Amino acid sequence: MYIFKKKVDYPMTDIHIHILPETDDGASDIQTTVQMLELAYEDGIKTLVCTPHYHPVKCKLPQAEIERRVKEIEHIANQLYPDLKLLPGREFFYSQDMVKNIKQRGMTINHSRYVLVEFDYSESRQVIRNGVVNILNEGLIPIISHIERYPSIILNEDMAVNLKEMGAVLQINADALVGEEGGDAKRLAKHLLKKKMVDVIATNAHTAGRRCPIMGDVVQWISNKYGYDYAKKIAKENPNRIIRDEFID
Ligand SMILES: [Fe+2]
Repeated sequence: MYIFKKKVDYPMTDIHIHILPETDDGASDIQTTVQMLELAYEDGIKTLVCTPHYHPVKCKLPQAEIERRVKEIEHIANQLYPDLKLLPGREFFYSQDMVKNIKQRGMTINHSRYVLVEFDYSESRQVIRNGVVNILNEGLIPIISHIERYPSIILNEDMAVNLKEMGAVLQINADALVGEEGGDAKRLAKHLLKKKMVDVIATNAHTAGRRCPIMGDVVQWISNKYGYDYAKKIAKENPNRIIRDEFID
């Protein structure tokens, strides 16, 4: 991946980041959170949706507590960067039993109808498809976290097309494009970008180190390879529509 000197010329929005301190397997302390805020802002990310896991092992904190933490961190962030916006969200680990609770517990992106959902990597295509249907049946729109990572989808790329046609939103991680998730994930991410099937690119950052909140170079690479308008759509316009609870096309 070429490192570009020219920065993306629009503010980006990251709808998937584990930046809250001591909350899940993301930022381990407040110092890490502040470093992540600095990296994101310097990269050109001006809106962050804080999406700690909702997961039986990683984090089960109530959403009200997550929202309290988001406000606390936004207050700290705004002393450094007054125009940096932090919004509440969640990354919901799919289980059929819990789907009914998403709305009730307010575990959506900025109180919209969009829910960021991840599946166990070993899930079959059938379980993922049923999950999408179950979430849609609740009147919610599933955003499938890091679609490029699921072995069952890597083995059958048409499945991603199928999920999108059903009404799911497809999100890829920026670092998949530099091979951080392995060759298969990189190939699928590039394939979906080429077909303009990706709706949103996000960092899914967990630290200020290897999995950090930087995506500007990757977005610039997408811009050069697949067009400026498409890159802008997945790094800014679609994420902003999601946080405003508007439909994306
Ligand atoms: Fe995540």
